[in-house]
Amino acid sequence: LRSGLHRQHGKQGAGGGGGGAKGIYAKLTIAVVGLLICTLSLLFSATIGGNRGSLEPSEINAEELWESAKSSGWRPSSAPRSDWPPPPRETNGYLRVRCNGGLNQQRSAICNAVLAARIMNATLVLPELDANSFWHDESGFQGIYDVEHFIQTLKYDVQIVESIPEIRKNGKTKKIKGYQLRPPRDAPIEWYTTVALKKMQEHGAIYLTPFSHRLAEEIDNPEYQRLRCRVNYHALRFKPNIMQLSESIVDKLRAQGHFMSIHLRFEMDMLAFA
Ligand SMILES: *[C@@H]1O[C@H](CO)[C@@H](O)[C@H](O)[C@H]1NC(C)=O
Repeated sequence: LRSGLHRQHGKQGAGGGGGGAKGIYAKLTIAVVGLLICTLSLLFSATIGGNRGSLEPSEINAEELWESAKSSGWRPSSAPRSDWPPPPRETNGYLRVRCNGGLNQQRSAICNAVLAARIMNATLVLPELDANSFWHDESGFQGIYDVEHFIQTLKYDVQIVESIPEIRKNGKTKKIKGYQLRPPRDAPIEWYTTVALKKMQEHGAIYLTPFSHRLAEEIDNPEYQRLRCRVNYHALRFKPNIMQLSESIVDKLRAQGHFMSIHLRFEMDMLAFA
């Protein structure tokens, strides 16, 4: 969508060059009239809507606002509810992924990586995170998430290693090089059990990059969906220093009232498209 927008702008700019002075005046007039209409309608709606505004402070019950939303009978559903054997001892190979995008995208990519490893009976290598080009943040998985908790929580789902092991061959040690593949966007499960699995068995390891939105969201298998929930809501836990910071924010909110302003760092493209 974004690149599409850019393209359209580009076309308009290029196409409108032939109008000459007359054309410019016509365009300026249209622009001025447009601006006037916008300003007037804004003023108008401001006077009309002025009284209606938001709720008076006295009408808001802050205690109620901070209560948990009612679940209407829904309950968390991340534990397996049918036969879910532990991962087989024998692995089909190593799965390396490079997550990209914003923090949320990378988090959901991690959930997909775990599921992909499960589907392929592969050993997952701790996912690589994007060193964000704007924030210059190179924390990596180990710097953000609790690795031991991640591996422990998922031990009945997938085998996970922190790094790809070295192999000894003719007295030399070397790392298995993952065969690099670019998964299709929202790839179906079949892509993992055919194309990707074949390359994994050939090379011992595959390296999927980029790896955001590379596994379909809608999968007709509740156990697979639950596994993604287990990763997101149970296995991925921030490191103690990050938890401490968030706890101190919550403590402050509890002690000093319900509202606090936080300066979130915006990414350049978020500002441009906001
Ligand atoms: C993974 O292992 C399970 C259980 O051993 C087996 O049923 C399944 O066919 C295997 N899948 C692949 C892709 O190897």
